[in-house]
Amino acid sequence: MTTAGAGAGARVEPVSEATAGPSLDREVFRRLARLVHRESGIRLTEAKRSLIVSRLSRRLRALGLSDFAEYCALVEAEAGAEERGRMISALTTNVTRFFREEHHFRQLCDEILPPLIAHARAGGRVRLWSAGCSTGEEPYSLAITLVERFPDAAAHDVRILASDIDPCVIETARRGRYPASSAAALPAELRRRYLMPCKDAPDQVELERTLRALISFRELNLLSRWPFRGRFDVIMCRNVVIYFDAPTQEMLWPRFAEALAPGGHLFIGHSERLTSSAASLFRNTGVTAYRRAGPEAPESRCAGVGQGDTPKPARPSPGDVPPSRSGRTTQWA
Ligand SMILES: C[S@@+](CC[C@H](N)C(=O)[O-])C[C@H]1O[C@@H](n2cnc3c(N)ncnc32)[C@H](O)[C@@H]1O
Repeated sequence: MTTAGAGAGARVEPVSEATAGPSLDREVFRRLARLVHRESGIRLTEAKRSLIVSRLSRRLRALGLSDFAEYCALVEAEAGAEERGRMISALTTNVTRFFREEHHFRQLCDEILPPLIAHARAGGRVRLWSAGCSTGEEPYSLAITLVERFPDAAAHDVRILASDIDPCVIETARRGRYPASSAAALPAELRRRYLMPCKDAPDQVELERTLRALISFRELNLLSRWPFRGRFDVIMCRNVVIYFDAPTQEMLWPRFAEALAPGGHLFIGHSERLTSSAASLFRNTGVTAYRRAGPEAPESRCAGVGQGDTPKPARPSPGDVPPSRSGRTTQWA
C-alpha cells in the first residue's frame, strides 16, 4: 500500500527539476543525504535525486520555503526535529500488501507455529515482530496466519509487535482500514472471516477485532535502541534493509540475532541477503528465511516452558516500551 507523500518509488513520476520548482544542488543534496542516512539508515543515491526533489518539494511548499538550502538548514538545526521526522516520512517507501511473499506465511503456518502454539498452550510466552511494518498488511497477515491455526491465541500470552519509523503509516496500520480492492487477492474464506465491510465506507474493509487485539503498533527507528526486555520467536524484517547501506545492514544482523530467542526465526525480503559476517549467526531454512544458530533445540519450546520462563497467566506481562510520540503506552514484552 502506498501512503500519501511516501508512495512506491516505481509509481512516482520523475519530475524534471526545471519544472518541479526549487532545484537541489549537489552540495545541499549531499548534506540532506548525510542527514537522512544518520537519522534512518536510508541511503539516498544521486540516481534518486529527481524523486527526492519531487517528494521534498511538497514539504517546501507546506512550509512556504523557496529553496532546498533553506530547507536543509531547517532540518539540520537542533530545533528541526519535527521536520526531520516529516522528511523521513516523505522519503520512505511504504509499498506492502497482504500476504506478500506468501511462502513465508506457509512456512510459518506449517513448520514454525505448531511448536510455538504448544508452548503458548502450556503457559509460555510467544512474541512475533513485524519490523518495518508500513501500513500494517504484514502484521495483520501474521495475525490471520496465527489465528487460523490458533483461534484462541488472544487468550494466551501471544503478541505481535508491529513497528515502523514512520508515524503516518503506523497510524494507518493501527486504524486497520483498507480499500476493499487491497484485500481482493485474499481467499474469499479469509476475507469473510477477517475483513469486515466498513459501515460508513462501503469501499473499505476493516480488520476483525480479535486480530487487532493481538497486535501492538509502535513507532520505532531500527537504528535506535530497541527497548524490549524479552526476545522474539519470529522477526519479519522484509523489504526494509534494502534501503540501507552495507555498514548499516551489517550492524543490524547481529542485533536481530540478539533480539531472537535461541532457535528463533528471521524472515527478510526477496531481494535482501544476509552478509557473510552474519552467516555464523543464522542458518538458512528456506527462501530468505533463517533461524538463529545456537545450542537450543527448537522442539524444547514444545516441552512446556523454556529459556527460564515461568508459566504466565494468559495475559501479556507489563511492557517496557516507552510511550510513542502520541503518548500511548502499550503493554508489551
Ligand atoms: C517497503 S516497506 C516494507 C513493508 C513490509 N515489511 C513489506 O515487506 O511489505 C519499508 C518500510 O520500512 C520502514 N523503514 C525505513 N527505514 C526504517 C528505519 N530506520 N526504522 C524502521 N522502519 C524503517 C519504512 O517507513 C517503510 O514503511
